[in-house]
Amino acid sequence: MFITAFVAVALLQASIVWSSAFDDAGVIAPGGRPSERPNHAIAPYKTGKPLVPSPERNKTCIIQSHGNGLDDSDHILSAIHECNPGGHVVFQKNQTYTVGTALDLTFLRSIDLDIQGTIVFSNDTDYWQANSFNQTFQNATTFFQLGGSDVNVYGGGTLDGNGQVWYDLYAEDIYILRPILFGTIGLHGGRIEDLNLRYSPQWYNLVANSSNVVFSNIDIAGGSRSKNPAKNTDGWDTYRSSHIVIQNSHIDNGDDCVSFKPNSTDIVVQNLICNGSHGISVGSLGQYIGEVDIVKNIYVYNITLSNATSGARIKVWPGISSALSGDLQGGGGSGAVSNITYDGMKISNVDYAIEITQCYGQKNRTLCEQFPSNLTISSVNLRNFYGKTSEKYDPLVGSLICSSPSVCGNITISDVNVTSPSGTNLYECGNIDGIDKMVDCMEK
Ligand SMILES: *[C@@H]1O[C@H](CO)[C@@H](O)[C@H](O)[C@H]1NC(C)=O
Ligand SMILES: *[C@@H]1O[C@H](CO)[C@@H](O)[C@H](O)[C@H]1NC(C)=O
Ligand SMILES: *[C@@H]1O[C@H](CO)[C@@H](O)[C@H](O)[C@H]1NC(C)=O
Ligand SMILES: *[C@@H]1O[C@H](CO)[C@@H](O)[C@H](O)[C@H]1NC(C)=O
Ligand SMILES: *[C@@H]1O[C@H](CO)[C@@H](O)[C@H](O)[C@H]1NC(C)=O
Ligand SMILES: *[C@@H]1O[C@H](CO)[C@@H](O)[C@H](O)[C@H]1NC(C)=O
Ligand SMILES: *[C@@H]1O[C@H](CO)[C@@H](O)[C@H](O)[C@H]1NC(C)=O
Ligand SMILES: *[C@@H]1O[C@H](CO)[C@@H](O)[C@H](O)[C@H]1NC(C)=O
Ligand SMILES: *[C@@H]1O[C@H](CO)[C@@H](O)[C@H](O)[C@H]1NC(C)=O
Ligand SMILES: *[C@@H]1O[C@H](CO)[C@@H](O)[C@H](O)[C@H]1NC(C)=O
Ligand SMILES: *[C@@H]1O[C@H](CO)[C@@H](O)[C@H](O)[C@H]1NC(C)=O
Ligand SMILES: *[C@@H]1O[C@H](CO)[C@@H](O)[C@H](O)[C@H]1NC(C)=O
Repeated sequence: MFITAFVAVALLQASIVWSSAFDDAGVIAPGGRPSERPNHAIAPYKTGKPLVPSPERNKTCIIQSHGNGLDDSDHILSAIHECNPGGHVVFQKNQTYTVGTALDLTFLRSIDLDIQGTIVFSNDTDYWQANSFNQTFQNATTFFQLGGSDVNVYGGGTLDGNGQVWYDLYAEDIYILRPILFGTIGLHGGRIEDLNLRYSPQWYNLVANSSNVVFSNIDIAGGSRSKNPAKNTDGWDTYRSSHIVIQNSHIDNGDDCVSFKPNSTDIVVQNLICNGSHGISVGSLGQYIGEVDIVKNIYVYNITLSNATSGARIKVWPGISSALSGDLQGGGGSGAVSNITYDGMKISNVDYAIEITQCYGQKNRTLCEQFPSNLTISSVNLRNFYGKTSEKYDPLVGSLICSSPSVCGNITISDVNVTSPSGTNLYECGNIDGIDKMVDCMEK
């Protein structure tokens, strides 16, 4: 039955290409059967720019794996070249593909990558440090870079970053370059759906120089099995990108669930479940002197967030250079955060439900106020929050600190029904005009 169904599907395709050969017995494994495109609805919010239609593919390329942990990059690359443009590439179900080579996939055009099996990145930390792709932002590097136009990635399979070796190495040396698992770099028009992302060395997703990309039904999880924590494992970071949707996903991680980095505009984040994160964050911004960072038109809707340091967070560096840690320092950059909406957030065991800081990385408030941020914050709407914070800052449930009212304002907070374990709902407030009319600010 399986084979018959497969042949029926095959006849509908113009041609089928195997990256190497049929299996040893000359039989088409059922794992090579192409899956249907999921095309999850983008709902309830959209970015205002519809995706261009993605035509049916006219060719299928099925990737064989060498097995035994050998590098499958040659098979993967030849299948992709064979099927680009216009084809459907299958990573077979029940197969594990090892990737030990940095793959530049920025040439993709009208192609579907159907990942039904598992892709594991090799644990050769020396190789990856020398060869993963430098993305010019915060020393970010990626295992691969996927870009081009009209690209769909789906299939229900898994990408595994083999993070443990990296978590242990980072504990010895914070300056190592840990690759990001999934690099969406220069992709214009695409959907990335129905995938499991596991054990990323650091961020799970970087979306840079991209537009019109939808992420839907992505399951992110992983953690350290040693005493060394899996650090900086953001779910998504967007950078120099617009019209991006991130939705219907489950994220279990140890840093920002989603973070909007410089020049992220017209982004919708909806229907996420985040556990263990640092919340949904704008920033950090203003890190680099001479740089202009813009984050605007962001809509964050219907987020369930637990066991986190923050729910909604905006982090902007002050006008003076500051150091948060050896490998994270900055301040003095300019730009603007504007038209940001957080609508609907259910929290539990979160340290601060809402955290706005324009003094990021600078513990000395006096110094921060002396050098107000060159990056303004305006038109921020926070509404429909409910749940309980953690004990950490009790009686506080949030912190709203700007560097000066002249560079930060028009923030509205409404229908926030969040309490601390002791039943209070107090905020630490500073330099935001009118904030005490919207929330209860703790007396200094
Ligand atoms: C995958 O493996 C499972 C369990 O080993 C098996 O039941 C299933 O039939 C396999 N699927 C394919 C498509 O080979
Ligand atoms: C398949 O589609 C691609 C992209 O649309 C096109 O360039 C190519 O000519 C098509 N091939 C066949 C065999 O139809
Ligand atoms: C790296 O992977 C290889 C082959 O998969 C394995 O033999 C080796 O033990 C791994 N090294 C570490 C440090 O995990
Ligand atoms: C990326 O930058 C690092 C550190 O500067 C360097 O070691 C590495 O070779 C670079 N990678 C590539 C692919 O250029
Ligand atoms: C980038 O790496 C360099 C060299 O290791 C380090 O000095 C710098 O602090 C890092 N910058 C960031 C933003 O991580
Ligand atoms: C909110 O998101 C959850 C998934 O986290 C989903 O089950 C629910 O239907 C969404 N609610 C609305 C009103 O969109
Ligand atoms: C962000 O966009 C602004 C305006 O288009 C531009 O001037 C600036 O250089 C960009 N910044 C970054 C970090 O790309
Ligand atoms: C604010 O952003 C929303 C999307 O989040 C957009 O619909 C609206 O047009 C933007 N408003 C302005 C004034 O740009
Ligand atoms: C929050 O953390 C606790 C303790 O680790 C865990 O039992 C619980 O399942 C977590 N909550 C969610 C929603 O994952
Ligand atoms: C904070 O900065 C102010 C102004 O520069 C300075 O007077 C004060 O000593 C600093 N406080 C600490 C604790 O460093
Ligand atoms: C940044 O802000 C500081 C303090 O407010 C100011 O001295 C400096 O000139 C500003 N820099 C730029 C590039 O605007
Ligand atoms: C707040 O909005 C008003 C009216 O749009 C504007 O004049 C003012 O400059 C804004 N304040 C800030 C800090 O952006």
